[in-house]
Amino acid sequence: MQKIIVAIDGHSSTGKSTFAKAIAAKLGYVYVDTGAMYRSVTLYALQQRLINERGEVSEKELVAQLPAIRITFRYNKGKSASETCLNGKNVEQEIRSFSVSQYVSRVSAIPEVRERMVHLQQEMGVNKGIVMDGRDIGTVVFPQAELKIYMTADPQVRAERRYKEMKEKGCEVPIEEILENVKRRDYEDERRVVAPLRRAPGALLLDNSRLTPEQQMEWFLEQLAALRINL
Ligand code: DC
Repeated sequence: MQKIIVAIDGHSSTGKSTFAKAIAAKLGYVYVDTGAMYRSVTLYALQQRLINERGEVSEKELVAQLPAIRITFRYNKGKSASETCLNGKNVEQEIRSFSVSQYVSRVSAIPEVRERMVHLQQEMGVNKGIVMDGRDIGTVVFPQAELKIYMTADPQVRAERRYKEMKEKGCEVPIEEILENVKRRDYEDERRVVAPLRRAPGALLLDNSRLTPEQQMEWFLEQLAALRINL
């Protein structure tokens, strides 16, 4: 049986992880959320007080401690979901906290942090059969992936989706503010110096502004068939 690597990159709030998880479940592959890995390093830095009140990161110390940071994914059967562990402790909730979200872009811009994460990600893919999502998977981590996808959606549509999600969690933020945030993150992701977000050569473009999850899966299966990938 042929096993492949599916590399998914794209703008924030396009539903990359939902789509990647659905593909992994469909193919019986492992799903790796690389954003969770950068979030775990950020959580570690916060726990070790390597980020001060002004938001400055003690880069040297953090880089020196990288070998002490072990990130693994554990499958929770009850929840049918994979959970991120930092040095053996489940941190799936903590890495989604506001403070981690606030500092993760700074931590993920440190070249040595990226080098280490990319190395770990490449190791996870040695046996293929993996779906990985992030910002640099098709460009840096697996440029040779059999299937590369670049996801985007209209900023207004993404802001509306985020607004609904947040409202359901009981947090109401004006939609204009969310739209501003969506646009700012696009700008930062595309313009950062290290591993900026780019559509990798050969990556298939998926604009899901007007697609349901079912239609996205149909699209994915069509692409597999068109590439004559027999799984
Ligand atoms: O997808 P996310 O919001 O969980 O990602 C968290 C942060 O990590 C975000 O600032 C982008 C960054 N990131 C990255 O630089 N490279 C990746 N492969 C994945 C995420």
